[in-house]
Amino acid sequence: MPSEEFIVTPWEVEGHVDYGKLITLFGTQPIDDHILGRFKKLTGSIPLMLRRKIFFSQRDLNWILDCYEAGQRFVLYTGRGPSGHTHLGHLMPWVFTKYLQDSFGADLYFQLTDDEKFLQKDPLSMHMVRGFSYDNALDVIALGFDPQKTRIFLDTEYVHTLYPIALEVSKRVTFSAARAVFGFDVSTNVGMISFTSMQSAPAFLPSIEAGRNVPVLIPCAIDQDPHFRVTRDVAPKMGYYKPALIHSRFFPSLLGQDKMSASLPETSIFTTDDPDEARRKIANAFTGGRATVREQRELGGTPDVCTIYQYAFYLFEEDDRRAFELREECLTGARACGTCKKELADKVVAFLEDHQRKREQAKDRLEDFMVRDC
Ligand code: TYM
Repeated sequence: MPSEEFIVTPWEVEGHVDYGKLITLFGTQPIDDHILGRFKKLTGSIPLMLRRKIFFSQRDLNWILDCYEAGQRFVLYTGRGPSGHTHLGHLMPWVFTKYLQDSFGADLYFQLTDDEKFLQKDPLSMHMVRGFSYDNALDVIALGFDPQKTRIFLDTEYVHTLYPIALEVSKRVTFSAARAVFGFDVSTNVGMISFTSMQSAPAFLPSIEAGRNVPVLIPCAIDQDPHFRVTRDVAPKMGYYKPALIHSRFFPSLLGQDKMSASLPETSIFTTDDPDEARRKIANAFTGGRATVREQRELGGTPDVCTIYQYAFYLFEEDDRRAFELREECLTGARACGTCKKELADKVVAFLEDHQRKREQAKDRLEDFMVRDC
């Protein structure tokens, strides 16, 4: 892969992602000021992740807002592939989903694709992916979703409901289409080839249950878009609306570039990390700083490549003016990397302590959210 290129698929993100180019490659639409204005009008404010264009791309989002304005409720659908503990990158779309649930009073279907991770990740047994599913569900619940409006399910435990829908999808997706979208080859196991139909199923479930077409909005990072291109292709053939999407960028790896990855623990902060571990990872993170304090003072740093600055920008500095000041102070050399790391570590640790307390409480509330049909 030449250095200026990048790869984004549901199973691999590599290289320096050019998000503008991705919009063209994937054929999505940018989130523009008109859409931001509509959010402001409908919800009273524009949340950080939209203001800062962290959610930067969409499919049919204007249609979802039109439906809402016309009094037609939409349903939210998102999920997680339970291959390990949850990291802060995974939380990002869920924090945004929670904002959407609160602001639009929307029901949420949350899918845990234990089947996908069993099929995809060689050392993972069914027992392990089921364990991670329940572990990851605690993070979802800890974020404060409304139990009356949220259902969480594992594919293998909700299979009577999902499988018949997945079959309808599978029947309409050829191997050649799946290969073109996902890049499968002859060594791909056959489970992975048809898996996308399971990820499509929850997009149609609200309509099947209601007995009429229900608009669905899927918040996720852009890596999941290929699945939903397939879903959207088959939707009209099955008589349903195409699900709309809102896509986020990737929360960066602590070592720079790429996205935070659960398979490389030093690149990520997990919701289960203890405070010392989180502080150590932040202390070792890649920054945009100069080799010496003196050079930093004289030449300034480069916040746009700095993972510490990105963390503040994406999640941990709510105040826009302060985020701007941090950037300026870095550029002019008024700020040293050590100060930024210390300030960020304090915020991350405060977040983790609070989240871990809520995770513990979530253990008693799992059954308020989980649904099973077998
Ligand atoms: P998974 O487990 O890879 O990721 C869960 C969610 O987190 C997003 N994500 C990220 N967002 C920001 N920064 C990152 N570094 C980062 N890494 C991952 C993903 O886009 C996703 O939204 N097959 C899916 C599970 C799934 C799903 C869904 C996801 C089933 N149905 C519907 C979204 C919507 C998966 O393995 O996600």
